Amino acid sequence: MTEFIQAVRCHRYAGLDKMGKPISTPDPLSEVLRLEEIPAPSCSDGQVLIDTYYAGIQYPDTLQAQGLYQMKPELPYIPGMDVTGTVKSVGAGVEHVNVGDRVIAQMSIGGLSSVVSVGASNVWKAPPRIPLAKCANLGRNFFPAYHSLKTLGHITAGDLVLVDGASGGVGMAAIELAKAMGAQVIAGVSVPEKTSLPEAACADRVFCYGRDRDSYRKFKTDIKQASTEL
Ligand SMILES: NC(=O)c1ccc[n+]([C@@H]2O[C@H](COP(=O)([O-])OP(=O)(O)OC[C@H]3O[C@@H](n4cnc5c(N)ncnc54)[C@H](OP(=O)(O)O)[C@@H]3O)[C@@H](O)[C@H]2O)c1
Repeated sequence: MTEFIQAVRCHRYAGLDKMGKPISTPDPLSEVLRLEEIPAPSCSDGQVLIDTYYAGIQYPDTLQAQGLYQMKPELPYIPGMDVTGTVKSVGAGVEHVNVGDRVIAQMSIGGLSSVVSVGASNVWKAPPRIPLAKCANLGRNFFPAYHSLKTLGHITAGDLVLVDGASGGVGMAAIELAKAMGAQVIAGVSVPEKTSLPEAACADRVFCYGRDRDSYRKFKTDIKQASTEL
């Protein structure tokens, strides 16, 4: 008997017209996404089937459902690039995780589904003390932040890091990681209402760069002053 699961599917790109050309104001995603019942995936060789507990929804997911991301999946498709959950079954050749393990997984599409099938090399055991709700955004927020700080920036303890766009997913991840690396962090946001987010991520100072030239000039003065104090 066919087993069914629940998944969110995108049936039309919200940011493209019928000819596939970008439109000036994308339609709301609620108009193109639907929660549906679909046949459950099977677990083939080298794959891991995961019962999804949490699925991260991040900036690239929105862009992709608008048809404006570098990868345009065939419609309808299931959005979602990062999940956490427990292993439901493993295919032949998979040895590093077992049924019941708490795992973190990333994929190019398919995360917004109650059961996902993921290639084994993109599945990792979640550390025991970390709640699954806290790590369902590792792939798209923390990996690029880590790459920027460590691979490109060679950040070490005592360095001073400036994070702009600091209220966003990658920005908040960059603050947390830079602090964990022992750096001091100055964070920038566009409006005062957004300062509480980088503050919650433990930025040492948060300033507004605003949306005009004068605000940006003041921002530069503020960070220069703060960098002498930190
Ligand atoms: N290479 C990769 O693998 C990778 C992965 C993920 C993301 N990214 C890139 O990293 C950047 C940040 O991604 P994110 O996931 O952190 O996005 P996000 O959560 O949407 O945050 C973006 C932040 O940028 C600021 N911003 C400035 N101008 C903006 C505009 N015109 N529209 C929207 N936000 C604007 C906003 O803060 P303020 O209003 O305070 O300025 C916002 O908080 C994006 O450019 C994304 O493409 C790259």
